[in-house]
Amino acid sequence: MKLSTAIAPSNLAFLKYWGKKDSKLRIPYNNSISVNLGSATTITSVNFSPDLERDIVIVNDSEQDTTSGFTVRVSKHLDRLRAVANEKSKAIVKTKNTFPESVGIASSASGFAALTVAAADALELNLSQKELSIFSRLGSGSACRSIPDGFVEWVAGDSNDTSFAQQIAPPDHWDISIVTVIVSKDAKKLTSTSGHELAVASPFFKSRMETIEIHLNRVREAILNKDFEQFGRQVEMEAISLHSIAMTSPFTANGWNSGAYYWTPDTMELIRAVQEWRSSGLEVYFTLDAGPTVHLICRREDEGKIEKAVRDIEKNIPLRKWDIAINRPAVGARVQQEIQH
Ligand code: DP6
Repeated sequence: MKLSTAIAPSNLAFLKYWGKKDSKLRIPYNNSISVNLGSATTITSVNFSPDLERDIVIVNDSEQDTTSGFTVRVSKHLDRLRAVANEKSKAIVKTKNTFPESVGIASSASGFAALTVAAADALELNLSQKELSIFSRLGSGSACRSIPDGFVEWVAGDSNDTSFAQQIAPPDHWDISIVTVIVSKDAKKLTSTSGHELAVASPFFKSRMETIEIHLNRVREAILNKDFEQFGRQVEMEAISLHSIAMTSPFTANGWNSGAYYWTPDTMELIRAVQEWRSSGLEVYFTLDAGPTVHLICRREDEGKIEKAVRDIEKNIPLRKWDIAINRPAVGARVQQEIQH
C-alpha cells in the first residue's frame, strides 16, 4: 500500500439526474449528460495504515467528526474498495475543493471521483475506467461522470454493472465555456440525495420521464454537431424541468413544505438577465443544479463579455459580491502520485 493522491473535476449536467430507481445502488431513472468543469476540482489523498483504529477524514485542513455524515459516507465508500482488495487497514483521507460546497456545484461528484481513484490506486486495484465509474457512482451518483474526460454520458443501466459513464466527446471537441456565478455560499436546505428521493412524488415526474429520451437525444446530438442554439435551448429547458419537479415535491423539514426552492432572488435576477442578453444579441443560456449557483453557457469568445455583464448586474445592489469561475471542458479524474498535501 502507498499514499496516493488524485485530482477530479466536478461536472455540470446538461441533461440531469434527478430521481433514482434504486437508491442503495444509486441507479438513476434516466441517462444524463455532462461536461467536466476545469476550474472546480477536488484533490484527495488516501493513505492506508495498519496502525489506524478508524478512518480519519480531513477536509480543507480540518479533521471531521467521526460521526459526521461525510466521514461515515467516506468510510463506507472505502469499505467497498477495501472489500475488493481484501484489506482491513483504515486510512487517512485528506481532501480539498477549489470551490464552495453545497451551493449548486456538485462537490460530491469531484469528491467521490477523486476518493475512488486515489483509494483504488493506493490499494493497487488496477481498476478499468468503467469500474472506477461504477465505484464512484456508489459514493455519489454524479461522481461516475467525473471519471471519463470531457463530455460524458452516464448510461442509467438497470444493475450495478450496467450503470456507468462513458465519454461522448473529448474536452477539446467544442470550445464552449461555462461562467459559473456563485450568488450565495449558504448551504442548501435540502440535499440532492433527499431531492432524488422526493422527485417521484411530484405530479410532473411521470411526464418528465415520458419525454426524457427525446431530450437526451437532442442534447447528445447538439453536442456532437456543435449546434449551440439547439444545445442551449434544450439545456435551459432541462434545468427548468428539474426545478419544476423540485418545486412540486412536497417534503417535511421543520414543518410541511409544498416543494424545494433552490433559488435565491439573485438566481432569478440572473435568469432574467440571460433573457435580456439574448434578446440584445449575446447568445448565452443558463443551467442550475440543486442550488442557487447559475451556470452561464456561452461560446468561448464571449466568456469575457459575459463576465463583465454579470459584474454589471452585481453592482445593482451595493456591496453585493459574487464569486465567478470560468470553466472550460476538462479531463476526468487522474492519479497525481507526486502531489502531497
Ligand atoms: C442536481 O450526485 O449529488 O446535480 O447520488 O445522492 O449523491 P447522490 O446525488 P448527486 O445528485 C446530483 C443532482 C444534480 C443533477 C446532476 O448532476 O445530474
